[in-house]
Amino acid sequence: MDSPSSNLPDSRPHSSGPPLRTQQRIVTLLVIGLVLLSALWTLRAPSPTRTPHVEEGSVAAGTISPEKVPLVTGEESIADIFIRAGCPVCHTIPGIAGANGQVGPRLVLGTKGEQRLRDPGYRGQAKTVHDYVVESVLEPGRFIVPGYPERTMPTWYGSKLSALALEKIAAYLEQQTEHESVH
Ligand code: HEC
Repeated sequence: MDSPSSNLPDSRPHSSGPPLRTQQRIVTLLVIGLVLLSALWTLRAPSPTRTPHVEEGSVAAGTISPEKVPLVTGEESIADIFIRAGCPVCHTIPGIAGANGQVGPRLVLGTKGEQRLRDPGYRGQAKTVHDYVVESVLEPGRFIVPGYPERTMPTWYGSKLSALALEKIAAYLEQQTEHESVH
């Protein structure tokens, strides 16, 4: 008699006390969770809206992309070659108005070129400063100038600059010296 009825209590735990308490706990945890989430959202919200303003205001090396750089034939003036290619965004180049970039080194290879070729860490194939400039533009990863960020100089210039443009760039930069550059 007793044993068949003992089956009944089995169903009780599902509907009585403990489930209610756990439900309350779940609700409390949910409320806390929601409060924390909303706090996180409000903290996060401003950053996506701020980012575009930062990019507009600063030089932003990220603004250089292959889509924005036209083909440079080399028929342009030397200033136009640099400007079209976007080098001034990252480099200061003596004699080129507006080329005051600070991301990469000042392009005074007439002074620095030999130093790079003699650098124990130099792994490129250039034997002359002229070739070092060409190599630096076509294969920037060959040698990272100490103190400057790697993987920053674009690697796609080979598809944007004609041989003539590259030649003119190298001829110009190998003549620039620290001495004659103003700032
Ligand atoms: C997005 C930024 C950026 C742009 C654009 C850029 N460079 Fe650079 N460049 C760098 C950085 C950073 C370095 C130094 C790190 C390294 O060696 O890769 C560098 C290094 C160089 C060097 C080696 C300089 C030295 O003192 O040894 C040369 C030469 C050079 N760039 C030429 C150019 C030319 C020419 C252009 C345009 C056709 C150009 N760069 C465009 C960032 C840039």
